[in-house]
Amino acid sequence: MNRILVTGGLGYIGSHTCVALIEAGYHPVVIDNLRNTRISVKQAIEEITGKPLEFYQLDAKDSAAVSSSIENIDGVIHFAALKSVGESIEKPMEYYTENLESLLSIIQVANEKKAKSFIFSSSATVYGDTEESCVTEETPLGKPLNPYGHTKILGEKILQSGKQKFKTIVLRYFNPVGAHESAKIGELPNGIPNNLVPYITQTAAGKREKLTVFGNNYATKDGTCIRDFIHVVDLAEAHVAALNYSEEMIETVDVFNVGTGKGNTVLELIETFEKVNKLKLNYSIGDRRPGDIEAIYTATSKIESTLGWKAKKELPTSMKDSWEWEKSLWK
Ligand SMILES: NC(=O)c1ccc[n+]([C@@H]2O[C@H](COP(=O)([O-])OP(=O)(O)OC[C@H]3O[C@@H](n4cnc5c(N)ncnc54)[C@H](O)[C@@H]3O)[C@@H](O)[C@H]2O)c1
Repeated sequence: MNRILVTGGLGYIGSHTCVALIEAGYHPVVIDNLRNTRISVKQAIEEITGKPLEFYQLDAKDSAAVSSSIENIDGVIHFAALKSVGESIEKPMEYYTENLESLLSIIQVANEKKAKSFIFSSSATVYGDTEESCVTEETPLGKPLNPYGHTKILGEKILQSGKQKFKTIVLRYFNPVGAHESAKIGELPNGIPNNLVPYITQTAAGKREKLTVFGNNYATKDGTCIRDFIHVVDLAEAHVAALNYSEEMIETVDVFNVGTGKGNTVLELIETFEKVNKLKLNYSIGDRRPGDIEAIYTATSKIESTLGWKAKKELPTSMKDSWEWEKSLWK
C-alpha cells in the first residue's frame, strides 16, 4: 500500500493531505484540473516535504485520460468536487454533473487500476436539518439542504450500492479551518469566500469591508450558530489513519465523522481570532441565513476507537495559522 491517487490534491484539504501522506511514507499521485487552486501549490507541497510531487493536470471526469496517465495505484482519495453551497443553488446541474461524473469516473479508474481502498470526501451537510446537535455516524441522513449536499448523499449511496473490488471509507468532514504551520499552503477561495474563516481573514486584511454574522437569536449561549471547527492538518491526518485502517477492515464500506467533538459558536471563533492575533474585526450581526441549522458537532467515539485518530489542534492554533496564511498571500 503505497501509491495513492489523490484527486483534487492541490486544493485546500487535498494539499494538506498530500503533505500528511508523504510524511507517513505514502506516494501521492495527484490529479487536479486547477479549477479552484493554483499550480504554485505543487511547489509549496514540495518545499514543505522536500520531495518531488507526482502531478498531472487532468479532469477527474475523464477516466480514460486519468487511467492512461498514471501507473498502478494502491488506493484513492477522492477530493475533486465543487463545494460552494450558494453556487450549487444557482447552478444545480453543474454540481450534479461535476461531482457525480467525477466520482463515477474515479471509481472506474480505481477498479481498472485494482486499487484496494477508496476514501471519499463527504460532509456533515449530509445530516441536513437534523434536530440532533451532536451527531454520530448512526444519525439518519437528513433532507438535503442544497444541491451540493445532495451530491454528497448521492456520492455516498453510489459507493455503498456498487459491488466494488475496493474497501470504501466515507469521511464526513465537519468545518475545516486553519492552514499548515509553514503558511505555505492554506485555503485559496476564488472570489468572495463561501466559508467563514477566509471571510474573517480577508476582512481583517482589508480585502472585505465587513463580516456579517448570520443571526444572533439562535438558542445557543451567545445566540450564534454552533459548528465543529477542525484544523485542516488534523483532518489531513485522518486520511492517513483511514488508509491504514482500510488494509485491515472487514466491512466493504465504513463511515466516519471527522471533527473535534467540540461545538464553538461563530462569535467564539471571531473572538478567538481577535485575541490570538491581537486585532479587531469589523463585523455586524445580520439576519439569519436560510438553510443554516442552529448547531451541529460530532461525537468522536467511533473514529477514535476504530481509526485511533483524534483532533489535536485547538481553535486558537487554527485561528493563528489561518491569519499567518492570509498574511503570506500579501508577499
Ligand atoms: N472545505 C470544506 O469546508 C469542506 C467540508 C466538507 C467536505 N468538503 C469536501 O472536501 C473536498 C475537498 O474540499 P476543499 O475544501 O479542499 O476544496 P478545494 O476546492 O480547495 O479543492 C478541490 C480541488 O479539486 C479540484 N477539482 C475540482 N473539480 C475537479 C475535477 N473535475 N477534476 C480535477 N480536479 C478538480 C480543484 O481545482 C481543487 O484544487 C471536496 O469534495 C469538498 O466537497 C469540503
